[in-house]
Amino acid sequence: MEFRGSANQRIARISAHLQPSSTPQMEAKNSVMGRENCRAKGGNPGFKVAILGAAADVSHMDTGAVVRGFLGAKQLEDALTGMDLVIIPAGVPRKPGMTRDDLFKINAGIVKTLCEGVAKCCPNAIVNLISNPVNSTVAIAAEVFKKAGTYDPKKLLGVTTLDVARANTFVAEVLGLDPREVDVPVVGGHAGVTILPLLSQVKPPSSFTPSEIEYLTNRIQNGGTEVVEAKAGAGSATLSMAYAAAKFADACLRGLRGDANVIECSFVASQVTELAFFATKVRLGRTGAEEVYQLGPLNEYERIGLEKAKEELAGSIQKGVEFIRK
Ligand code: LMR
Repeated sequence: MEFRGSANQRIARISAHLQPSSTPQMEAKNSVMGRENCRAKGGNPGFKVAILGAAADVSHMDTGAVVRGFLGAKQLEDALTGMDLVIIPAGVPRKPGMTRDDLFKINAGIVKTLCEGVAKCCPNAIVNLISNPVNSTVAIAAEVFKKAGTYDPKKLLGVTTLDVARANTFVAEVLGLDPREVDVPVVGGHAGVTILPLLSQVKPPSSFTPSEIEYLTNRIQNGGTEVVEAKAGAGSATLSMAYAAAKFADACLRGLRGDANVIECSFVASQVTELAFFATKVRLGRTGAEEVYQLGPLNEYERIGLEKAKEELAGSIQKGVEFIRK
């Protein structure tokens, strides 16, 4: 779908995961079949209805945005040409018992294809990458763009906003505050132990008991799994993820418009650690992530968490790089 944003920028949200109502068991299969059928025959009817239905549905919102629906590989170029911001949530979701990395096999190829489209049709666009495993798909996108000669590290942003939203919500519950008043930096990546909330840097300044720190860290790291299990086979977070994606996209648009002090956490090319990509707070501006902030002071618990996060992240990033290079 294409939206025209309030700041007059053009946004493409490219999704291969809009489904007709199906059994949970069929969901992953349909997603792939839908994509392949669209590619081979110009469209799976159920898939087509879902995409165009979603476009009609979203177009009724009185936001001032223009909504258009595009379908399948044939229309990818129409969907992408001239875009300033491309949001990629496409892919299959987890089922209970799966890790985000278990989605690599299917989602890696989807992200590769879509990023090749971005490189061809809107090489200057900012890309918001949501498709899991984000810890690997950002590296895949970077390699695709490098190959095409269009890579701008400032413009490739892995979306970790839902980790921050969860952290703000759970911390606010413990502190008895309104989540909108709470700011928890969440660094690292977007899977399990790589999601590292910095509770020592919470605003407003707060202290936590060791058991609160343990509880909050585990809950934030496993927020996605909590939703996957509650949905019991019917997918993963969609509504809270759409909220987080909209919040992050809006921040990118404000940056593109030239607003000052637009700061969000994101998984980006980084020199904060020895890893090629790492999530920290970044300042968003006209050219993307214009400033990548350092971690700030960490306590012992967070330093241990950081080592665990880096160890897992290194393998996930490498897996993404190798997918394109080999
Ligand atoms: C999330 O954090 O909810 C998403 O990454 C989806 C998932 O599989 O957990």
